[in-house]
Amino acid sequence: MTSSHIQDPCLPEGPDLAYDMNTTAECFEQLAEWVKIYPDIFALKPDKRKDMTLFVNHPDYIKHILVCDNDRYQKGVGFERVKMLLGNGIIVSDGPFWRKQRRMIQPAFGKDVIAKLVDQVKHANLQLFEKWHELAKQEAIINITDVTNELALEIILLALFSDDLDSVFARAGGNPFSILTDNSARDLQLAVKFRGLTKLVGEVIEQRRQECAERTDFLSVFMDARDKDTGEPMSDKELIDEVMTLIVAGSETSATTLNWMWYSLSQHPEVEARLHQEVDEASYDHVPGFENIMELAYTRQVTEEVLRLYPPVWLFTRKAIKEDKLGDYDVLPGTDIFIAPYFLHRHADYWQAPEKFNPERFTPEAIKQRHKFAFIPFSAGPRRCIGDFFGIVEAQIHFGLMARHFRMEHIEDNPIELAPEVNLRTRHPINMRILPRT
Ligand code: HEM
Repeated sequence: MTSSHIQDPCLPEGPDLAYDMNTTAECFEQLAEWVKIYPDIFALKPDKRKDMTLFVNHPDYIKHILVCDNDRYQKGVGFERVKMLLGNGIIVSDGPFWRKQRRMIQPAFGKDVIAKLVDQVKHANLQLFEKWHELAKQEAIINITDVTNELALEIILLALFSDDLDSVFARAGGNPFSILTDNSARDLQLAVKFRGLTKLVGEVIEQRRQECAERTDFLSVFMDARDKDTGEPMSDKELIDEVMTLIVAGSETSATTLNWMWYSLSQHPEVEARLHQEVDEASYDHVPGFENIMELAYTRQVTEEVLRLYPPVWLFTRKAIKEDKLGDYDVLPGTDIFIAPYFLHRHADYWQAPEKFNPERFTPEAIKQRHKFAFIPFSAGPRRCIGDFFGIVEAQIHFGLMARHFRMEHIEDNPIELAPEVNLRTRHPINMRILPRT
């Protein structure tokens, strides 16, 4: 980190309180109050941490940090816990190592590979469809939070291991990765158990090498990738860290999106009716394929509106490694930057009636008229989510199949409360009555 020569830095105003921001409900409440007073940016003195904090909520400043001058920043606080889970996978790594890994992993997320992986997404949804078909006949009550957690985990595991998943489950006597959906706490205990699973992943890699097995999945693209400078493949440790990263980064985020989307549809009958019309009129027989994605444009708009109101990654961080300027304000090296999609997505300067659920905000015309950086559920710039397209396609296929046949009625037992932790989940599981559509 370079040191600063600025004697008397120009800092934005801020609360007169020493405070360390975190992904906690308490911090969320506190931020909600501060954002009302300082809607665009504020400075905060640290409490136990050592460096000054800037909370940044203006799309111009966000663009500057994440895109224009992103080389002045690296990943920030809060990733220590994630590192325990993920080793040095691309969500936590930085600098030349991150760049090398991202270059090697990126091809797995090209449209051609995703188009093939859609078969796995379809497969997981078709299995669930069979279960829902029976449950809907009985108008049963289902815990949609648990179901979407399990579905999203299965999808990412199938996308990673395809045909080898059954043998992983057989060796482990069940789904060993379900510790992620069974434990909501992301603590040291979970990290230890989760890291214990790296052995299983190592065994799959070894077996594939011995069998020279051809597969279409993320793991095989990772194993085939070669560094463009050295021609070297990833080491086993690197491969394992990236696999573990995808399992964590790609399951809970997608699951919470599906969970919030079922709930939002149940609360907005006019949106539900339009989505029904779209999925009913689309040209596929039963389950949409990659070629039908464009027909599900309104489903995409609804997904984006869900991501606006309930961005799974509601708060993320950067650390300034060099001096910078945000407008007139100075950013000193070491500054901890906090960016909260949740609050940005409700900024009244960029969103009319921000609390209102309205997928019309995501028509191509509406998007064109808005500041591009007022909506960042997947972050932006070189560190933008690598699974953004996959995440949206997952929702389109799920609703493209399920919403043709079923609707969900919310059971008002548990209150709907936000649980702003690492991901923005629902505090209590959401229970729904599943009904056949007539
Ligand atoms: C709706 C679903 C998703 C949301 C809202 C989401 C959100 C995000 C966000 C905000 C980041 C950036 C975090 C930061 O800059 O600190 C990120 C990074 C990442 N996401 Fe996602 N994500 C989703 C789905 C997925 C899926 C399905 C995958 C994998 C299949 C995935 C893999 C990753 C990876 C590997 C990174 C790190 C990229 C890098 O640093 O180079 N995500 N995601």
